[in-house]
Amino acid sequence: MCGIIGITSSKPVSSAIINSLRKLEYRGYDSAGLATLSEGIINEVKSEGRVENLEKNIAIKNMQGSVGIGHVRWATHGIPNTINAHPHSSNNVSIVHNGIIENSTILKKFLISKGHKFKSQTDTEVIVHLITEYLKENDLKNSIIKMLNQLHGSFALGIIFKDQPDLIVGARRGSPLAVGYGPNENYLGSDSYALKSMTNKISYLNDGEFCILKKNLVEFFNEKGAKVNKKVLELSSSEQDYDKGDFKHFMAKEIEEQPTTLKNCIKEYIDNINNDINIYNFPWDLKKISSITLIGCGTAYHSCLMAKYWFEELTSLDVTIDIASEFRYRKNRFKKDNLYVFVSQSGETADTYAALDLCNKNNMKTCSVVNVIESSIARDANFVLPIHCGPEIGVASTKAFLGQMLVLYIFSLKLSVLNKDLDKKTYVNKIKDLKNLPKLVEETLLTESKIQTISSTFTDAKGSMFLGRGFSYPIALEGALKLKELAYVHAEGYPAGEMKHGPLALIEDGMPVVVLAPRDNYYQKTISNMQEVIARGAKVLLITNKSKDEVMSENIWQTIEVESANDDLLPFLLTVPLQKLAYYSALKKGYDIDKPRNLAKSVTVE
Ligand code: AGP
Repeated sequence: MCGIIGITSSKPVSSAIINSLRKLEYRGYDSAGLATLSEGIINEVKSEGRVENLEKNIAIKNMQGSVGIGHVRWATHGIPNTINAHPHSSNNVSIVHNGIIENSTILKKFLISKGHKFKSQTDTEVIVHLITEYLKENDLKNSIIKMLNQLHGSFALGIIFKDQPDLIVGARRGSPLAVGYGPNENYLGSDSYALKSMTNKISYLNDGEFCILKKNLVEFFNEKGAKVNKKVLELSSSEQDYDKGDFKHFMAKEIEEQPTTLKNCIKEYIDNINNDINIYNFPWDLKKISSITLIGCGTAYHSCLMAKYWFEELTSLDVTIDIASEFRYRKNRFKKDNLYVFVSQSGETADTYAALDLCNKNNMKTCSVVNVIESSIARDANFVLPIHCGPEIGVASTKAFLGQMLVLYIFSLKLSVLNKDLDKKTYVNKIKDLKNLPKLVEETLLTESKIQTISSTFTDAKGSMFLGRGFSYPIALEGALKLKELAYVHAEGYPAGEMKHGPLALIEDGMPVVVLAPRDNYYQKTISNMQEVIARGAKVLLITNKSKDEVMSENIWQTIEVESANDDLLPFLLTVPLQKLAYYSALKKGYDIDKPRNLAKSVTVE
């Protein structure tokens, strides 16, 4: 949830650190700071709020030093203020940290008994005093090993030392950490995105490893201090992926580029000539898979819920889904013939990674559906299904959601035909329909004008409901989540058929209610549910698909018609107006659309 950067170079590093911090802000933006070492003195500058506040601090202007660390914070322990901002420093050591030290209270008591004085309310400051304590009687490497052995919880660390003029130590357990290789300088960063403007050559630390960086030398070690060799990966995406172009926000760009990202993903999996699906190197005999469990968080969980409907519809597999933070603590009964699928845009979500790690430790079949193919979840699952939608910078997930759904749909189709649950002719027809999806999304994106005008009804209301049945229910949940996280208003996604079992009491005159009612098998039933809420005064925004049949109902406040498609594909089209509804609602309220308050793009703490 925080972002860290470290640079050791032959030239001053403060401006390069600030530049990387700007790229890391999507990981947390409560506060920011950096520290450099110059002539044996650790200089530290920190500020509340965004990186731009840090840049305005005049102290930055004269900051010297060719080795330094930086941090953007998403608060876990201690309110977001300058004192609690990272780095945390003593005279001898300065540290930036992403993660949670779970035994910080006990360690703090021990260190205070040793005479250490604390300034902040953070767990991180404990690490500063712990390694300072060990350095009294141990050399650097042994002090690091002893310190890491004492820490419980998760961390990605960057550490500089007063008496080590060109050296940075990095360490990883549970939170991602990468090393970048530059010309006469080397880098430490939370992820490749922070490093891409400086290098495309990256190595990743695994849990328990630490590294020692100098400007011309990088060494990796395991928790016992034994040397570890690391592959150097060459990264793919070009810089323009990270540019908003003519768009006001990354989210707007990412909504509009969905036809392209869907097309790119389809190209990766669909054999255009034979109308078949290619999933290469699938490591298991399909006959050995009798059930599947889909696991994710937030929007990724909604794609799991959506996939459950497709797997049930198209295959004979038993399908279960779970929220990762629930799965990891559940009394799980692991089954050898079950395939565990982990869905994550960032591939670094702590709860999802922990659930994957648990399955790996139980020797289960694990597969990941991710966007960031260099991520921990992608690297540590037995098999990866990339969604190929390019970097998603907006904290609110849009193109990645459609990408996750697309890959899970493709996967369900492939398993269905391999298991002979779906006849070849139907399979081929569905693939032909699928190839038309990008065009359908493109046409649906044109529903812009109406959405922009009605969004204020949702922002002015004290709450709203999003209702759907069957394939539309996961989309109702996703639409509500989008409005919550962007416009900071109460919005609840609910199964349309469930309203009469309680939540109907919420409906009052003028309450905005989105009803997703495409002309699928659930249409009539959902229209009946819609009339129940209209009868109680709701202002219904009906989202359905184009049809020659009129909607048989009165007093519908607004109707949006998306393009028509086979039932499997309607969820993709229904999602688009809901993304725009949330976007325009936030725009009307003047909120930071790409970095909503309290959130971060990659939730790397639990
Ligand atoms: C989605 O709009 C949210 N930003 C959030 O729910 C997100 O989907 C969730 O944190 C999971 O992230 P991941 O896909 O990177 O694992």
